[in-house]
Amino acid sequence: MPDAAAMFSAHAASYDAARRALIPPFDRFYGAAVQALELAGEPVRRVLDLGAGTGLLSGMVAAAHPRAELVLVDGAPAMLDRARERLRGRPGVSFVAADLRDPLPGGPFDAVVSALAIHHLDDDVKRHLVERIFAALRPGGVFSWAEQVAGPTPDLERRYVERWIARCRAAGVQEDALRDSLARQALDLHLPEGPQLGWLAAAGFGTVDLAFKDERFAVLVAVR
Ligand SMILES: C[S@@+](CC[C@H](N)C(=O)[O-])C[C@H]1O[C@@H](n2cnc3c(N)ncnc32)[C@H](O)[C@@H]1O
Repeated sequence: MPDAAAMFSAHAASYDAARRALIPPFDRFYGAAVQALELAGEPVRRVLDLGAGTGLLSGMVAAAHPRAELVLVDGAPAMLDRARERLRGRPGVSFVAADLRDPLPGGPFDAVVSALAIHHLDDDVKRHLVERIFAALRPGGVFSWAEQVAGPTPDLERRYVERWIARCRAAGVQEDALRDSLARQALDLHLPEGPQLGWLAAAGFGTVDLAFKDERFAVLVAVR
């Protein structure tokens, strides 16, 4: 199991409770990620969620596209167990315990979604994954990439982290939870959104846009 996935497996039970407070633009961030699927046109029949975790984003996609088949991939079995509970009784859902470096489940997909997971990979692996996502999509299919991003300069990165801490405190996050989150983020490999948008275009996506940005949180969208 990759390091990040092992860490999430250990925290699976408490993961969901802290999400809203630790992601200050929670509704707008996930809302933009789901809204991006409209670019794929209707119907959205098959959706792949990479680094699906407890199924937070998949649950929202399932609500917006009740007939879509969902394939959730994650390297942490304990996180996928939570996703199974969240999506219990919902037909057309499958779960794949796998590393994001492994071959992707067979396409084509109408949409690939991913939230806050790809930043755990090394940059060359991220870039190769973007190419593999392009290959897994049908023409016209959408990649909706909700991600934590780095500030474009060291000064902005410092300001965004300071503001994130202040916003979390204002949302009621306790100091020990904040410390734990910062310790987990030490394993993250965040990049500014600019180079990542460039990778999407270089992979062959015809339409690439930054659909949402609020300091450390961005949604990149790309249409094959
Ligand atoms: C911050 S969570 C995000 C979960 C979910 N997408 C969400 O928005 O709540 C990151 C997830 O990525 C998974 N992950 C990290 N590195 C991975 C890898 N190399 N292969 C597979 N999953 C990985 C972790 O296990 C974890 O469930």
